Amino acid sequence: MRAGYTARASAGMVRHPKQGMERIRGRWDRHRDRRALAAAGVPARVLYGVTERWAERLHAALELPWPCPQAESFGPIWDRIVADLTEAGARVGIASYGGWNDGDRAFGAAIWCLVAHRRPETVVETGVAHGLTSRVVLEGLNRNGRGHLWSVDLPAVDSALHPEIGMAVSAGLRSRWTYVRGTARERLPGLLAELTAIDMFIHDSLHTGRNQRFELESAWAALRPGGVAVVDDIDHSLAFRTFVDKARPRMRLAARHVTGPGLVGPDGLWGLAVKGAGAPGPAPRAVAASPHYRKLSTLMSDSTVRDRQHAQIELSVVREIAFLVRGLTPAGSRLLQVQPLHGPEVLLFRDQLVQPARPVIYDQADRRDPDVRTETDFEEVDFEAAKFPAPDDHFDLAVWNRELVTLKNITPALREVRRVVRPGGYLILTVPNLAAAHNRLLLAAGRQPTTLHIASGDHVRGFAAPSMTRVLERDLAFRIEHRAGVGIAPVTSAPLPRPLRDLGHTVIWVLRKPA
Ligand SMILES: C[S@@+](CC[C@H](N)C(=O)[O-])C[C@H]1O[C@@H](n2cnc3c(N)ncnc32)[C@H](O)[C@@H]1O
Ligand SMILES: [Zn+2]
Repeated sequence: MRAGYTARASAGMVRHPKQGMERIRGRWDRHRDRRALAAAGVPARVLYGVTERWAERLHAALELPWPCPQAESFGPIWDRIVADLTEAGARVGIASYGGWNDGDRAFGAAIWCLVAHRRPETVVETGVAHGLTSRVVLEGLNRNGRGHLWSVDLPAVDSALHPEIGMAVSAGLRSRWTYVRGTARERLPGLLAELTAIDMFIHDSLHTGRNQRFELESAWAALRPGGVAVVDDIDHSLAFRTFVDKARPRMRLAARHVTGPGLVGPDGLWGLAVKGAGAPGPAPRAVAASPHYRKLSTLMSDSTVRDRQHAQIELSVVREIAFLVRGLTPAGSRLLQVQPLHGPEVLLFRDQLVQPARPVIYDQADRRDPDVRTETDFEEVDFEAAKFPAPDDHFDLAVWNRELVTLKNITPALREVRRVVRPGGYLILTVPNLAAAHNRLLLAAGRQPTTLHIASGDHVRGFAAPSMTRVLERDLAFRIEHRAGVGIAPVTSAPLPRPLRDLGHTVIWVLRKPA
């Protein structure tokens, strides 16, 4: 048996040397991934922020009701797939196809709901083996009466297993399926170029960091706004983490495999990322070219080196907000900006939305310049005393950039902004970070942190990122969709990688009012 395997595997390696090299490279990459994970010093579930209530979160993010009838209909479908495979003589679960595992029930359930709700036209996956995930997608497409699945797969090294490839996919579903034989590296770029744009991507092939990164970067570029990437076995490397930090999807989550008899081990994780609707590509260039952004940069004071540094960080925060706002809410959305420092940022944010309504500004005094005046509505509000002049649930999106530090009493004002945002709507809040690296150093030297002014200036409140996060979540009942840090003064004004975000000069939260 063993000798037969060796002979068959060697023959395969000789016939397809390039694929053979990819398999060997994979073994080496696995060692590197394990070392990198160990060096990260925290378990993968912590690194990825695993959520137990992934299905509920996914539905909330897609503005879908929960409990979901589609999700309920998945159980019998999955049981049927497993029963069909077992009847056909296959073993289902861990290491059931060479050393490879079958897709698990939670991963399948997420794919099922995504296909049902998003009704994708073009789905691409990598890694077929028995074809459990392929079958789930095809069952869904068949039910939708539209769509096609392309599956890139390198057959197992042992040719004795080849008759088992795709055995979960019943004959009646195959007209919507194209099997593309070869490694993802060989076949994915050409396939994506041919398809031009895709609606959904599923990774379940070689789970090395190098291959996952390659697949995700290739597929993400081809994914339509609002499209989803579902990724199995993210706990094998840091790749999914690196990817989401860089691509900044509209929403992402990480969850556990469902364990149990015949299903995968207790520690496995999978993840998914939703590409921002209306975000056809990286935004920064478009933002920097906007006349409102250019105007904004001329309005910022640059008389001292410190002013210039500060202006760079403020502009970086504005670019980051513009990036986050892009396509965040549906067409026709209502935008509220509270205390804009400079009016043009409101127009910049408005321009990131799809067919937006006329934006509204709340401030203690009308400081809008003439251009902004003609394109926005204004209400004078005393944030510490008065109610906001809008009915409940009125706005889709509110932005409050940096100025919360000027209020003594923040809770009533934050409650008011939450009240006027609709359920499922967003508040993008930024504040200068009291616990920023430069403030920690200043305090250690016995000096005043820059976030809190003494004689001149109006910053009367200081907020440390983690503590403020708790207040926003626990006391104000916002859901934290995203938290980022921007700038380390005087070193950089750029958005920070996640491990450094709480040292950032400015903290940004994307908060959601639960539906
Ligand atoms: C985990 S299994 C796929 C399980 C499948 N999605 C399911 O639910 O049944 C991984 C598959 O990817 C294939 N594979 C391995 N390396 C690959 C590569 N570099 N590119 C594409 N497929 C690869 C394996 O031979 C195997 O068929
Ligand atoms: Zn659903």
